[in-house]
Amino acid sequence: MEKKIIVAGIGPGSEDFISPAALKKIRSAEFLVGGRRALNQFASTNQITCAITRDLDAPLNFIREKILIADVVVMVSGDPGYYSMLDLLRKNFPPESIEVVPSISAMQLAFAKISLPWHDATLLSFHGRQPARAALKYSAGKILGLLTDAEFNSSTVSKILLECGWEKNSSVTICEKLSYPDEKIFTTTLAAAAQAEPVKHCILIVQ
Ligand SMILES: C[S@@+](CC[C@H](N)C(=O)[O-])C[C@H]1O[C@@H](n2cnc3c(N)ncnc32)[C@H](O)[C@@H]1O
Repeated sequence: MEKKIIVAGIGPGSEDFISPAALKKIRSAEFLVGGRRALNQFASTNQITCAITRDLDAPLNFIREKILIADVVVMVSGDPGYYSMLDLLRKNFPPESIEVVPSISAMQLAFAKISLPWHDATLLSFHGRQPARAALKYSAGKILGLLTDAEFNSSTVSKILLECGWEKNSSVTICEKLSYPDEKIFTTTLAAAAQAEPVKHCILIVQ
């Protein structure tokens, strides 16, 4: 049988939010790829590992070599289907050689934390990209769920939303380090968040 690249989500951080199916694949992997934090958390000494760093050729070459021997499990944060290395893997390997094992996305957990359904929310990412301004435009009743990064953080994104017609007193919930012991979730206004110390790599829920 053909060997598979198994892309397993690890949830937002705490093992409480990794799916049992993903954990099973990770535990039984002979070859395991992941960020350094994920490898520290999940890899055991009998597994052969490769760290995902800025040099993305290294994990791709590791997969090309090891897939000839056995399945390779690639750990990604949150859910693989939502802004992960899955895109890059699909550009480099045939889709039929890839199996995806879902886990909880940080976006799901953020909405759960404030008990707000996300089926009507507009979900966009500022992580290494910028959404089209038209998608960010204010309209009555609109709910935004936004991924951020270091540059496009709680402050810069709030300023952009004010430029896109959102009210100064629109509510923004800033969700930082979700599921970790030092998790912080607080709600403020867009005007206040724009002026406050930036929170990086968080999720913003704006309404
Ligand atoms: C490349 S995206 C990965 C999303 C991931 N695939 C998911 O489903 O959660 C990285 C961004 O997700 C968000 N994120 C991931 N984990 C988080 C956490 N524990 N707390 C808050 N935001 C998180 C941040 O906006 C971060 O910059």
